[in-house]
Amino acid sequence: MIRQKIWKPGAVRLAGSDRYARLVVYWLHCHYREAERSTLHATVTPVPVPFPQANNAMSTDAVSTDQFKQAMGLFPSGVTIVTTSVNEERFGFTASAFSSLSLSPPLILVCLANSADCFKPFNTGKQFAVNIIDEKYEELAMKFATKGCDKFAGDEFIEGGVGLPVLPDTPVSLECRTKHVYPGGDHVILVGEVEHLTLGTGLPTVWHAGGFRKLES
Ligand SMILES: Cc1cc2nc3c(=O)[nH]c(=O)nc-3n(C[C@H](O)[C@H](O)[C@H](O)COP(=O)(O)O)c2cc1C
Repeated sequence: MIRQKIWKPGAVRLAGSDRYARLVVYWLHCHYREAERSTLHATVTPVPVPFPQANNAMSTDAVSTDQFKQAMGLFPSGVTIVTTSVNEERFGFTASAFSSLSLSPPLILVCLANSADCFKPFNTGKQFAVNIIDEKYEELAMKFATKGCDKFAGDEFIEGGVGLPVLPDTPVSLECRTKHVYPGGDHVILVGEVEHLTLGTGLPTVWHAGGFRKLES
């Protein structure tokens, strides 16, 4: 009964002294907010949501594909060769649209064009590897950016820690389990959880304005 009265603001005085009643109400308030916060944290799962302001921004018609490519090419990036293996068949492509995403769990992302010949094995596959390359693999990167050629003919790859094709002696190779594949316009965003990584020596090569650049040590 007393509890019921405490919940009703008008009945607070009946629970005891005014000061005591205020303390009880304050404690209940804090307790409720804490419970509400932990429920929120426990139930929120991120879902891809279109950014509403995108419609108010400059119309995409105003940006030509060439202009956009040129603008994005001005942002210097590393170069990666992304590989996978499905039923012992190997696939791969060159990607500069690579980023780290989360520290815990360790997540990375790579964007792959829907039009890529290797789209299906990456889109439906369970794992992939990202090799951050240095200068000695630039030619190989151009091969992996060329449709229709036998990308694995040169035997440059070895089997990595979880059995994916990785490059030996490259600055970094990351072997990942595919966690999510999100649509992103004419690309998909492959999100991978890193299960095995190898740190090598050497400086990563840089892609800028349509060409390879060198980092100075
Ligand atoms: C430096 C460089 C970076 C590239 N980055 C990407 C990328 O991030 N995502 C992508 O889908 N294609 C990228 N490409 C193009 C693909 O590597 C290329 O279209 C490849 O041939 C696609 O695979 P496919 O041969 O199976 O079609 C890049 C090419 C180069 C030269």
